[in-house]
Amino acid sequence: PLIGPKEMFERAYKEGYAVGAFNVNNMEIIQGIMQAGAEEKAPLILQVSAGARKYAGQNYIVKLIEAALKDSDLPVVLHLDHGADFQICKDCIDGGFTSVMIDGSHLPYEENIKLVKQVVEYAHSKGVWVEAELGQLAGVEDDVSAEHSVYTNPEQAVDFVKRTGCDSLAIAIGTSHGAYKFVGDASLDFPRLEKITKLLPGFPLVLHGASSVPQEFVEKANKYGGKVGGAKGVPEDFLRKAATFGVCKINIDTDIRLAFTASIRQFLFENPEQFDPRSYLKPARDAVKAMVKHKLKNVLGCSNKI
Ligand code: G3H
Ligand code: 13P
Ligand code: ZN
Ligand code: NA
Repeated sequence: PLIGPKEMFERAYKEGYAVGAFNVNNMEIIQGIMQAGAEEKAPLILQVSAGARKYAGQNYIVKLIEAALKDSDLPVVLHLDHGADFQICKDCIDGGFTSVMIDGSHLPYEENIKLVKQVVEYAHSKGVWVEAELGQLAGVEDDVSAEHSVYTNPEQAVDFVKRTGCDSLAIAIGTSHGAYKFVGDASLDFPRLEKITKLLPGFPLVLHGASSVPQEFVEKANKYGGKVGGAKGVPEDFLRKAATFGVCKINIDTDIRLAFTASIRQFLFENPEQFDPRSYLKPARDAVKAMVKHKLKNVLGCSNKI
């Protein structure tokens, strides 16, 4: 059934694991993730970005997920990823989403608070969960250090949560979006995560930009004509460790894209005579499923948690 994240996060928090939040853009990706969740008996968050809404149309995505849930008893949250303003959050709430993110992380502090409060007021009147963000995720060129920090300030996080009434908080501790996350060695600011967790006991935290960029996908993509050079992600043991703190939701999109595309490249390279889209979308869907199964079981620790 379609549910809100409350009980999902409460259990994840208590038991020290995280729920996977996977970005969905089309039928095959939804099916691959749902099949993985079913086999692992894992709760799932399917999240939809503004780009996904634009690509597929909100109604298509919602109907695809409804169709997926018709044959399934998995607990699934339908979440808006990176809502930029009140209107997109309202459109998603009105369209049946059970959770929205309002991302005011780029705004001055007081404006971020004001925007989140506005969304919280509407969302809570409809029983919908609100994720907000404080701090800014690094771009790979940014010189991010705790000193000139865009990392989340722990004391400010407490004030932010109290004043906005948000239900969960995305934090910046060194992850970033996309396939190129670290120039040198990968590192996350775990002391900061520990401090935020201590100051906000029981409050669910969210890790964006948490793809691991498995080198097998990068190598496969490149072997069959791709150019994905120098890609580097968050080591899986970092994610496992983050999940033992307040982190209850771990966002993964890039790894889905890499698994899907590497599979299609390989298939078309090895079967140049094929042009039936089903011939290459089926293995691509299976590749997403296998990747997600691995995450649920070996990285997030959420298998058999339904
Ligand atoms: O955080 C961003 C997600 O990976 C979604 O990406 O906006 O290209 O759909 P997108
Ligand atoms: P990745 O690019 O690391 O998969 O992050 C996805 C994300 O944070 C979506 O909000
Ligand atoms: Zn994100
Ligand atoms: Na956790």
